[in-house]
Amino acid sequence: MKPLWKSTATLASGSPFEPGAKHDVAVVGAGLTGLTTAVMLARAGLDVAVIEAGEVAELATGGNTGKLSLLQGKRLAEIRRHHSPELVRAYVDANRDGMDWLTSFADGAGVPYSRRTDHSYAQTADGLETVRAQHDAAREAGLATRMLSAADLDATPFPIAGAVALDDQVTIDPVTVSTALVADLLAAGGTVHTGIRVTGAHALGSSRVDTVEGPLFADHIVLATGTPILDRGLYFSKVSGTRSYCVSFRISGVVPEGTYISVDGSTRSIRPVSAADGPGGTAQLIVGGNGHPVGRSDGETAAIDDLVAWTARHFPGAIETHRWSAQDYESHNRIPFVGAMPRGLGTIRFATGYAKWGLSNAPAAALRLSAEILGAIRDDKARWMTMLGTRLTVPADLARGAVEGVKVAKEATTRWVAAESRPVPVARPTEGTGVVAHRGGRPVGVSTVDGVTRAVSAVCTHLGGVLDWNDAECTWDCPLHASRFAPDGTRIEGPALRDLPELPRSSRD
Ligand SMILES: Cc1cc2nc3c(=O)[nH]c(=O)nc-3n(C[C@H](O)[C@H](O)[C@H](O)COP(=O)(O)OP(=O)(O)OC[C@H]3O[C@@H](n4cnc5c(N)ncnc54)[C@H](O)[C@@H]3O)c2cc1C
Ligand code: FES
Repeated sequence: MKPLWKSTATLASGSPFEPGAKHDVAVVGAGLTGLTTAVMLARAGLDVAVIEAGEVAELATGGNTGKLSLLQGKRLAEIRRHHSPELVRAYVDANRDGMDWLTSFADGAGVPYSRRTDHSYAQTADGLETVRAQHDAAREAGLATRMLSAADLDATPFPIAGAVALDDQVTIDPVTVSTALVADLLAAGGTVHTGIRVTGAHALGSSRVDTVEGPLFADHIVLATGTPILDRGLYFSKVSGTRSYCVSFRISGVVPEGTYISVDGSTRSIRPVSAADGPGGTAQLIVGGNGHPVGRSDGETAAIDDLVAWTARHFPGAIETHRWSAQDYESHNRIPFVGAMPRGLGTIRFATGYAKWGLSNAPAAALRLSAEILGAIRDDKARWMTMLGTRLTVPADLARGAVEGVKVAKEATTRWVAAESRPVPVARPTEGTGVVAHRGGRPVGVSTVDGVTRAVSAVCTHLGGVLDWNDAECTWDCPLHASRFAPDGTRIEGPALRDLPELPRSSRD
């Protein structure tokens, strides 16, 4: 499944990797967090190397919807429910600075984007209270939101019971902007290594990252890997990974001008596409949503088919062009984690927990990380950086973390039990399917993809979760902390760093 954005993009290829090289800063991950941080530091004169396991914009950055908005669905209301008005304002200020940085970068680099009105909408009357709460939290934080009734929106081709709107938000092609960031980084003397997986980071002695090709030394290390790849601080247990889906369409009728995201029911995220904010001509509309915790789903393909069916109902004649999925992480206290890692001696930093609003949160995190590294937190930025920097945990966050912990523990137990109930050999799985069975006391995952049947250990190499088959991506996904693996066991993402061992197939699996 390939995102619309990658259908026409030419992705920058990396420079040859020299084991043992020394840089001022090593940034792990060439998504939006890594690239914006690297550009800011390289522009300030530091020697920066980005090390990426896949290609540029490999994961969430390459698979997002391309809405750069301060409204952010019902997020402000959620933060406000658990935190002070000052904190919501600090969050909005951070995102405004992130948005301003990215749009001014795009202006300078000639990356086009559109200005559109963004809407957080209720699909039914039950959602109107949330719409109102979002409006109140947004106004309190200084945003000029407006309430709209169903009558105000009666031309919209899908059901809306009411909405809160914010004008002048942005839609942008996330891969085009990532490619431009790479070009800017290289022009500023930086380096990008793609296809190199980092396997560890060390602060003691000569600080370094270890990679599959050897070490790379640096005075500062930034882990911009989505969820951090180091377990120190236990951040993998303080965030939850959600997998979501997008489908793009060619539309024969009228395409909405604005962007929309529902606040009630199954999420529907609607985003028009034009030549100014995407590969125009290829598709005119993206419909996203149906997110679920990674590895805990009743069927990933069914989630996408449901988006297609919804679109067919409300945009008759829509023709699907691309379908894809990606995952992002939300912190249990709803505020991104950004800053120095515990026991990282002030050398190792990270950022995660944008809850699917990374186009502004990632550059905001980069502003903070680069200011820390450069020792340059200015007074005018200090307020939101300081407020968001402290690890705010309120009783509700602890409760939320505890609930998630219980779910994780339940997944851990029930999946071992389920695996034990199905001993190998199992019948050869049909094309595109995978099953977890039990061999000699250990869960084994057997799948058939592109005609090849493989058996791998179905035990996550992070902390031992039993994996679940993702029938849309044909991957093994971990229901505990969201690591994912290819059918041959190759690690794709998440806190796991090692591949799954490939196992010999038994006579019938
Ligand atoms: C379906 C979906 C739709 C979204 N839509 C929007 C939207 O409309 N607007 C918005 O603001 N946000 C949106 N988001 C959120 C946004 O995409 C993310 O918050 C943002 O892209 C995160 O960027 P990142 O750089 O932190 O992570 P990523 O883009 O995931 O980058 C992390 C990088 O680190 C690399 N990496 C990981 N481990 C290693 C390793 N061991 N060694 C080397 N490299 C490694 C990965 O390959 C990856 O390229 C959406 C997210 C999803 C899932
Ligand atoms: S990601 Fe932690 S056990 Fe799998």
